[in-house]
Amino acid sequence: MPRPREAVRPFLKWAGGKRQLLPQLRRFYPSGFGTYFEPFVGSGAVFFDLFNRALLRDRDVVLMDGNADLVGCFLTVRDHVDPVIRHLEKLAAERTADPHAHYYVVREQRFNPQRQRLGARNGGGIPRLYTPALAAMLIYLNRTGFNGLFRLNAGGLFNVPIGRYTNPQICDASNLRRVAAALSASRARIEQADFASVLGEARRGDFLYFDPPYAPLSGTALFTSYTSGGFDDGQQVRLQETVIELAARGCHVVLSNSTAPIIERLYDSNEPARKVGLRAYRIPARRAINSNGACRGAVLEYLVTNVPERAD
Ligand SMILES: C[S@@+](CC[C@H](N)C(=O)[O-])C[C@H]1O[C@@H](n2cnc3c(N)ncnc32)[C@H](O)[C@@H]1O
Repeated sequence: MPRPREAVRPFLKWAGGKRQLLPQLRRFYPSGFGTYFEPFVGSGAVFFDLFNRALLRDRDVVLMDGNADLVGCFLTVRDHVDPVIRHLEKLAAERTADPHAHYYVVREQRFNPQRQRLGARNGGGIPRLYTPALAAMLIYLNRTGFNGLFRLNAGGLFNVPIGRYTNPQICDASNLRRVAAALSASRARIEQADFASVLGEARRGDFLYFDPPYAPLSGTALFTSYTSGGFDDGQQVRLQETVIELAARGCHVVLSNSTAPIIERLYDSNEPARKVGLRAYRIPARRAINSNGACRGAVLEYLVTNVPERAD
């Protein structure tokens, strides 16, 4: 598979980002497909990987996420990358005098009030209203905040504390320009939507990669609340029904999730899933979102797919 010299990298750190899992996921990229859908796009690690490998050439691409700010940021980077870079460079320069104070000034006095002016509490319509200043602040808070988390409090305000970084890279202008070019070149449709909306348009032969918030292995082990609604067992069941319906339609589906008992029940020892050709693979992966550093390390995850494993 050809790769351009300058690969595009995700421009956000995102809880559950899939960069480390790419070698495992690549074994299940279908050899041919129609439209590519990524309904839980997050930082877009798989989208950018497919793009870097020229596997999206001449295909339609649909990227979705339930997080309005994330989608707004993607659209703004695509359409206004130079103003985003200018704002980001200014933030990086301002920060040097007192990084701690600057983080909280940006969060409390600029980002949250500006989001609220967009009507950010209910999320609807925000992506199109996102400004270069907001996108730059989101990237800044993401790169300097605790573990790159995006979390809102009950009042809808971003409340992630500052992270412990000595020299975070805040503005990677050339990668941001490559991101903007990749989003434009792939003519990706990018929208805030619930994952199940793919049922309205995916057809036989299309490829869909699902990377939902993982089912927690224990009550508090994992961060799953990227959107105000959270992602509970009922959502995992709704997702399984969606994936089964798509596999029955003849779509190529790949899904990643934790090895929590509910996921095993929904996919590994599940007759309807088996009947439509879905197979569950347990694969080793590293997980980065865990406040207890001692708990980081090798764990198993599930890959569920109806795509045959590549021989190469
Ligand atoms: C595990 S992350 C995806 C990470 C991504 N694969 C990456 O490499 O960065 C899960 C994503 O699902 C989104 N999400 C949560 N509930 C959703 C829903 N009902 N429909 C669509 N997206 C949702 C979250 O906002 C989050 O970005």
